[in-house]
Amino acid sequence: MKTVFSGMRPTGKLHLGHLVGALDSWVRLQDTHRCVYSIADWHALMGEYEHSAGMAVNILEMAADWLACGIDPKRSIIFVQSDVPQHLELQMILSCLTPLGWLERNPTYKEQLREVTTRDLQTYAFLGYPVLQAADILLYKAGAVPIGEDQLPHLELTREISRRFNFIYKKDVFEDCAAILTPVPRLMGLDGRKMSKSYGNTINLCDAPEEILRKAAGMMTDPRRQRLKDAGHPDDCNVFAYYKAFLPARETEVRAWCEGAAKGCTDCKKILAEGLIEYLRPIRESRVRILADKGYITEVLRDGAMRAGAIAAATMKEVRQAVF
Ligand code: TRP
Ligand code: SF4
Repeated sequence: MKTVFSGMRPTGKLHLGHLVGALDSWVRLQDTHRCVYSIADWHALMGEYEHSAGMAVNILEMAADWLACGIDPKRSIIFVQSDVPQHLELQMILSCLTPLGWLERNPTYKEQLREVTTRDLQTYAFLGYPVLQAADILLYKAGAVPIGEDQLPHLELTREISRRFNFIYKKDVFEDCAAILTPVPRLMGLDGRKMSKSYGNTINLCDAPEEILRKAAGMMTDPRRQRLKDAGHPDDCNVFAYYKAFLPARETEVRAWCEGAAKGCTDCKKILAEGLIEYLRPIRESRVRILADKGYITEVLRDGAMRAGAIAAATMKEVRQAVF
């Protein structure tokens, strides 16, 4: 079985975008791959070092969300990045051979420096973000990495760094890894902008039914449909995109009532909310059950760190033999 590796930064509550963008595919990959999923707390610290106090809670909640969504700790390895010290050890070695220019040219880095104003990213560590990500992937010799498109430059850097390692130390320790891109188109936030916690435009996996109803009621709709008797254009409506992602069985019906001006947007959004509430109900309920037993989560993470640590130690042995 090929190894899959992926990670997520524990920076807050998981939302519908994480579900369609990552977790659904992570769950499916468990059937075909050996999966290693990491709660990337070092990566989170790079952006959130001034607000690190909430990290322990975020880690616990992220683990609960993963388990509630169907990540299975018997089949997959789930662990916290900082529990396996080899990530930093390999990062150090890879840092030595990564040219500064590769990191400075990284488009994700440049974009974030430009766009993120709420956090301080002008640090030594943040420039090296992709080096740690390469270490994550290479420690487990993962052949496949499910990621979003924004992470593609980091995967490209991982390949360049691993090839440079093999070339310099004249040993084929690492193989190339390939991205697994999520097949579904990206889901926008409730207001039509990129879905992000910092815009406050998300429906979270733990949202209560009343909250989902309230949030859905405020969603942007087709701007050309001003009055009930105007025909709508579902393909230009964000609400319809949510139907397609979560309630595909109702797609035809919604298209008909929208284009035929048979139902108003208020009703359409209310029906969406009711569907989303049902969709999320099993996740929400299972999340509550899991969070009630923190000892279980801690145990899952400890077991994950042990299994991950065993693989990481074996790789580091090879790496040290190649380097020293
Ligand atoms: N950088 C990734 C993100 O923000 C998270 C991450 C950390 C990751 N390590 C990884 C993803 C290794 C894939 C592989 O989404
Ligand atoms: Fe969008 Fe539904 Fe209104 Fe059509 S009826 S514009 S799909 S909210």
